[in-house]
Amino acid sequence: MENLKDSAPLLTKAVPHLVDSIFVRGEGAYVWDHSDKRYLDFTSGIGVTNTGHCHPKVVAAIHEQADLLVHTHQNTAFHRPLLQLLEVLHEITPPELDTYYFANSGAEVVEGAVKLARQATGRTNIIAFQYSFHGRTVMTMSLSSSKTIYRGGYQPLMPGVFFAPYAYCYRCPMAEADPEKFGFDKDCTWPLDQVEFLLKSQTSPEETAAILVEPVIGEGGYIVPPPRFLQGLRKICDKQEILLIIDEIQSGFGRTGRFFAFEHFGIIPDILLMAKGIASGMPLSCVASRREIMDASSPGSHGGTYGGNAVACAAAVASINVLKEENLPENAARLGKKLLNRLQELKEKHPCIGDVRGLGLMVGVEFVQPGTRIPHAAKAKAVQKACVDNGMLILTCGSYENVIRWIPPLVINEDHLDEGLSIFEGALKKTANI
Ligand SMILES: Cc1ncc(COP(=O)(O)O)c(C=O)c1O
Repeated sequence: MENLKDSAPLLTKAVPHLVDSIFVRGEGAYVWDHSDKRYLDFTSGIGVTNTGHCHPKVVAAIHEQADLLVHTHQNTAFHRPLLQLLEVLHEITPPELDTYYFANSGAEVVEGAVKLARQATGRTNIIAFQYSFHGRTVMTMSLSSSKTIYRGGYQPLMPGVFFAPYAYCYRCPMAEADPEKFGFDKDCTWPLDQVEFLLKSQTSPEETAAILVEPVIGEGGYIVPPPRFLQGLRKICDKQEILLIIDEIQSGFGRTGRFFAFEHFGIIPDILLMAKGIASGMPLSCVASRREIMDASSPGSHGGTYGGNAVACAAAVASINVLKEENLPENAARLGKKLLNRLQELKEKHPCIGDVRGLGLMVGVEFVQPGTRIPHAAKAKAVQKACVDNGMLILTCGSYENVIRWIPPLVINEDHLDEGLSIFEGALKKTANI
């Protein structure tokens, strides 16, 4: 196994990795490397293995389908797992969204949603948000603003994209200037006013096909907006006949304590995007929408060769059934509250923690220079490294790279959470001088 490492330099440096290990197996919340070192995996393959590594029911469904039929193109005929998946998806998505199609990756369905919105509305432009991340293809890089590393050197990108501020209350310039009037728990509409201003100043409603938004920002810093933000976007879209595209690629499939994060905010999207947790690691993504939006698209213009692959669909059906049978969204809600409380306690003791926020098991810890709001990326990196050295895989995120994101599998129990928190607390102590 060690000799295999000789081939490692063949992989481009453009695909970096967190630990210099070869992972050989995973089970539930843990992965093991070639030297049998065990890691608590609180990355979940970036929000993918919500049912844990190699859940027996998901693995069995993959085996069973692989023995029967691996692939047939979706434009040729239906296969059984695809029809089963339509049924289970329709049970967990709002009834208004009555049409679906499948692709392989998150970026593909973000692109697909923009294509749908353009054909359905006859308009071209898209409003996206600061801190957002929607993928690494040319169109999705154009729609993302979380970090320059994703765009730098690849520009100019697709025109017709306009960025508005996200409701990031911890870093809101208005809240900083006037905390009595602006902030998460105030009645402020500043980010919504900025969207209205874009519609007056840069992209008129007649040219604007869609507003594309993450209901909780992922890669850009695990930012939870106040409910009035998404509710206000819904109202703007209704008034201006603009489509609301909700990207649940990272926040979906039980992660935030509900099947989808938008459910916390009492809104229904026009187009819903799913990937990652949908199939526990098999490549699959999905667009859900109202039939009239989907049917406005040219036949054959969505999907691709592998979209809706039979084995991936079988894994998705099993994953969604496991999420339901084991009440994993409820587990995420319950343990998420405990995690937030414990992290708030740590924030009181450690002034390097500026903010703790989250929904369910999608929780961010933002590091700052003590006594200020100046981002402290070096601290986040050092804490991450100390966690990894002590056997817990955990990721950073944020435009300033100063946020540690907690994104454990939803099958964790209190013991796993205590283990993770104890490693994290140890890492805070170990890095006290940074
Ligand atoms: C919110 C969101 N949208 C889109 C994507 C892109 O998905 P993929 O990497 O599968 O293309 C990601 C990936 O992290 C994401 O978090």
